[in-house]
Amino acid sequence: MAHQKILILDFGSQVTQLIARRVREAHVYCEIHPNDVSDDFIRAFAPQGIILSGSHASTYEDHQLRAPQAVWDLGVPVLGICYGMQTMAVQLGGEVSWSDTREFGYAEVRAHGHTELLKGVQDFSTPEGHGMLKVWMSHGDKVTALPPGFKLMASTPSCPIAGMANEDKRYYAVQFHPEVTHTVQGPEIFNRFVREICGCAGDWIMGNYIEEAVARIRDQVGDEEVILGLSGGVDSSVAAALIHRAIGDQLTCVFVDHGLLRLNEGQMVMDMFAGRLHAKVVHVDAAAQFMGHLKGVTDPEQKRKIIGREFVEVFQAEAKKLSNAKWLAQGTIYPDVVESGGTKTKKATTIKSHHNVGGLPETLGLKLLEPLRELFKDEVRELGVALGLPPDMVYRHPFPGPGLGVRILGEVKPEFADLLKRADAIFIEELRSTIEPNSGKSWYDLTSQAFTVFLPVKSVGVMGDGRTYDYVVALRAVQTSDFMTADWAELPYSLLKKVSSRIINEVRGINRVTYDVSSKPPATIEWE
Ligand code: XMP
Repeated sequence: MAHQKILILDFGSQVTQLIARRVREAHVYCEIHPNDVSDDFIRAFAPQGIILSGSHASTYEDHQLRAPQAVWDLGVPVLGICYGMQTMAVQLGGEVSWSDTREFGYAEVRAHGHTELLKGVQDFSTPEGHGMLKVWMSHGDKVTALPPGFKLMASTPSCPIAGMANEDKRYYAVQFHPEVTHTVQGPEIFNRFVREICGCAGDWIMGNYIEEAVARIRDQVGDEEVILGLSGGVDSSVAAALIHRAIGDQLTCVFVDHGLLRLNEGQMVMDMFAGRLHAKVVHVDAAAQFMGHLKGVTDPEQKRKIIGREFVEVFQAEAKKLSNAKWLAQGTIYPDVVESGGTKTKKATTIKSHHNVGGLPETLGLKLLEPLRELFKDEVRELGVALGLPPDMVYRHPFPGPGLGVRILGEVKPEFADLLKRADAIFIEELRSTIEPNSGKSWYDLTSQAFTVFLPVKSVGVMGDGRTYDYVVALRAVQTSDFMTADWAELPYSLLKKVSSRIINEVRGINRVTYDVSSKPPATIEWE
């Protein structure tokens, strides 16, 4: 079960996780660790190759931010990216020049394809026959003198040394960012590095991973019992299916239905897990309890806290009844656990307290079982499909832990939740069934998150011969790759028209539908 591994040393770039995703897409296992891990750690990790990430820092300003000596002593291939290239240059005897102007955005780089890394890799060629790459650049400093033993691998007019290599040592470095999607040949470059230069066989495949994960869970748990909080979300669902595959009835899922789930969601979760998988599921209908505690509360943060607290309470009460349980399973995934050099210095400001229903306190006194800890979201989805979960469930848009509690603005009332669930189901149904002709994909698949928001205001309308005075909903649909920034989706008018007409006709109590055309920032994706 020992996979060949690539070590990614993080110097604090915003996009280090993308490096890991590209490596995993090449079917090679990798881990991200802070740049200042010890030499012993690196030797014990025994990587097939090492990648040095970018950074917000400058090799000029920060003399601490260097690759550990073991990187150069281990004799394995090394790929430096942006800052990673600069620190490679500085540490191996080249020069970097400081600059206070940044080069940022699209660039065309001349690839000197005589190295193993870029041989035959190009997007187009110039009339003179030079191979060119379309890339993404984001840097201030640049390498101005090659270290001894290195040759030029890529160049642009403003950055004459945009890539360098020492092929005897198998060291490669690029000033541009092959990990971002704007660099067209990025996947090919990573594939070349990890598969051919580092010689990794490509043994990281989700279909095969099931067997390995199952064996590991059995080994960890033995004959003890496990409980898992099922939320209906992708991570807890895949974790449940995987653990169930491993230990069957030793797993009990507790599904706390707070009444703020999407239409029929509770039933769907029960049909899937209790019905099709024959897993043990305790379904706790706690809607009345949650609604009771939310009565009269209008502040969004307060609502989040109450929902989080009640969830823990209900779950704990159920857990106590399962006195044989020794393990608590959670759907924690790699981005939740990855340590990064950046996080040591960066101060994150809390805009919303993103409590995750499923994040339970340690007071339960149970051992933690987190079988998805090393997987990215795309891998969790692939694993889910491989485990036989329906693609519709596995490729669902993310849904916040507090559920409709933060999509009903102000006070949450059962009658508002009922109207919202029905309106939202219509919106999602139409998104799924409307195909965008150029891509052949549905608008559901073309958006990252789409939902309906309930506004507790009434507006006047006219229906038949009568005047109505009913509630308003807002449709929200965004496109984003990281949920940190997002654009509102340019849905076709015909689709919006149909959704609006269906909601107003089919959901009595709503007489006006609006579309939210705010991007993030300055707005957020959710309204609360
Ligand atoms: P915002 O509204 O901050 O949302 O732009 C970014 C992403 O986070 C989700 N979100 C939450 N998820 N608990 C969660 O588990 C929360 O309290 C919460 N608030 C927002 C949101 O749905 C979007 O995907």
